[in-house]
Amino acid sequence: MKVDGTPYRTIWVADDGVAVEIIDQTRLPHEFVTVRLDTAAEAACAIKDMLVRGAPLIGVTAAYGVALAMRQDPSDAGLGAAYETLIATRPTAVNLRWALDDMRALLAPLPPAERTAAAYARAAEICDQDVAICSAIGDHGLALIGDMWQAKGRNGRVDLLTHCNAGWLATVDWGTALAPVYKAHDAGIPIHVWVDETRPRNQGDGLTAWELGRHGVPHTVIVDNAGGHLMQHGQVDLCITGTDRTTATGDVCNKIGTYLKALAASDNNVPFYVALPGPTIDWTIRDGLAEVPIEERDPSEVTHVTGRADGGEIVSVAVTPDGTPAANYAFDVTPARLVTGLITERGVCPASAEGLADLYPEHR
Ligand code: MRU
Repeated sequence: MKVDGTPYRTIWVADDGVAVEIIDQTRLPHEFVTVRLDTAAEAACAIKDMLVRGAPLIGVTAAYGVALAMRQDPSDAGLGAAYETLIATRPTAVNLRWALDDMRALLAPLPPAERTAAAYARAAEICDQDVAICSAIGDHGLALIGDMWQAKGRNGRVDLLTHCNAGWLATVDWGTALAPVYKAHDAGIPIHVWVDETRPRNQGDGLTAWELGRHGVPHTVIVDNAGGHLMQHGQVDLCITGTDRTTATGDVCNKIGTYLKALAASDNNVPFYVALPGPTIDWTIRDGLAEVPIEERDPSEVTHVTGRADGGEIVSVAVTPDGTPAANYAFDVTPARLVTGLITERGVCPASAEGLADLYPEHR
């Protein structure tokens, strides 16, 4: 995607061929700043502190984190330590484990002297694969949106609601939930996006609105509780969200609040789709509610909000009385029964064990 005319991915290897560069997403939407990562520890901090976030990008950053670690210490101990440091950063997005397992399986059998080059090459492949996957998700989602537009008699616009940020900032490029939006917009389908602000970290306000705006996609930010009202009044044609971990049976874990949107969609007969790359499927679990680890983050994200003051400075202000207890659950699980379909790189399938196994027979 382009930022002020310059094409960007969310992560790339620096000109020196060694360091890894990222966009610092904690500074958006008010400042566009890139950051250089030189060590695995810095990559781990970038994930933990959410300079990078979004399940696919977390996985790719971890893969590059292993490459950076191999430069410092390519021994078995170095590989093991990098794996442990990176896997401990965030618990919910399974792409993290997927990428680290992939890197370890490739590197462990190699002699240490060969590990650094192999790690950089594999991380670059995972990056390119993510772009191809998200582009394919976009194509399948475009077909859905196109059908919806046809069904409306090609009159007016398609109104889509999304939650959190599952756009190109959450992946390497294109996004998952937003890839179909970009493809529809580029294909000339009039599409408008309702953007949930997504408290407490406001990924909708800060990231989704920013990237849709840069691409010229019409959108409107709404408070998290407005979606149900809009659905009751026929103002949402479909919902598409991303996911951090989807079980083998189609239960979907995503940013906190996704479940409530799915409930409202179900009550109002609004199709509720979830867009995901294959590496977001956790084939080892079948019960999302019981088995997906839900990240709990610092309560200060709930008690405070950060934004730009009229004077231009970035400030954090308290929104609760001093000392108020707060709980900060970062994700929730939407049961498969509330999901109309899963949009993957291999096509759209029902959110069920059968549906997923048909698309990914190697996991049957
Ligand atoms: O806490 P975040 O910002 O990492 O949460 C991100 C999400 O919940 C996204 O919807 C999910 O990772 C899918 S991204 C393509």
